[in-house]
Amino acid sequence: MKVLVTGATGNTGRHVVSGLRDAGVDVRVLVRDPAKAPEGTEAVVGDITDPAEAAEGVDAVYFVWPFYSAEGIDKAVKPFKDKKIAYVSSAAAEEGGFWGDVEEAVRNVTGDWTFLRITGLATNTLGWVGQAKTGKVRAPYGQAKRSLVHEKDVADMAIKAFTEDHARQIYLVTGPEALSQADQVRIIGEALGTPAKWEEQPIEEAITQLGEEFAKSALPYWASLVDDPEPVSLDVAKVTGHPARSFDDWARERFS
Ligand SMILES: NC(=O)c1ccc[n+]([C@@H]2O[C@H](COP(=O)([O-])OP(=O)(O)OC[C@H]3O[C@@H](n4cnc5c(N)ncnc54)[C@H](OP(=O)(O)O)[C@@H]3O)[C@@H](O)[C@H]2O)c1
Repeated sequence: MKVLVTGATGNTGRHVVSGLRDAGVDVRVLVRDPAKAPEGTEAVVGDITDPAEAAEGVDAVYFVWPFYSAEGIDKAVKPFKDKKIAYVSSAAAEEGGFWGDVEEAVRNVTGDWTFLRITGLATNTLGWVGQAKTGKVRAPYGQAKRSLVHEKDVADMAIKAFTEDHARQIYLVTGPEALSQADQVRIIGEALGTPAKWEEQPIEEAITQLGEEFAKSALPYWASLVDDPEPVSLDVAKVTGHPARSFDDWARERFS
């Protein structure tokens, strides 16, 4: 089997590449910059919006769609016709939106799809680290509770999707618990060896910092998580055979 890994330089893709190689699977990567291609892979230079050359002759695709719109998705997935596809989707696909549109486009080209619906990646918190080193992180909704998942767990799920039969399965991919954002900052501080505290940021300031477009969707979502935490799923444990890695483990691996 040969697998095309898109997003191979990214948080999850790099672990998909190493996991597949460890499993003895041939890997091709689609990269924009050949200098960034992971070692030991066959690299095709191109763009995810036009992956025809990269898709030639592969059996399966680790598919990321790194945009906040489904525009151009039908053309992008056409070369993946009848191949096995593991698509890194979002828990938000449950409500449709562009995530749902991308899933539908994938379903339209193959019957052999697996959707890995993530609540949020632990790597989303990397943007706080600079502030955490100064002892406080100023951001909105410290009591929003998120079930952030370790990028290696997403990769482990994808590797199972390629090496076992998980066709037509939708998995909810989360960490083992929903932690408040304030607790995440505290844990990052502990791993850094510098105590770090949350400082609640006024909403107007957050809109200016995040940009209106992103703030429009992110802020109401985080607000909703104060009283209604993100779900915690057992799918990582069920599919991979090991419990989902904790945020604490993630932070220690990164910063200790
Ligand atoms: N973050 C979350 O909480 C979250 C939640 C739900 C779903 N997701 C989905 O998970 C996916 C994977 O996340 P990740 O953190 O592993 O990725 P990431 O670290 O954000 O990296 C994005 C990857 O996509 C590549 N890329 C970007 N634009 C491209 C283009 N036009 N053509 C080809 N490659 C392109 C980048 O390559 P370069 O090195 O060339 O930049 C990089 O390898 C995301 O794309 C998102 O759709 C994320």
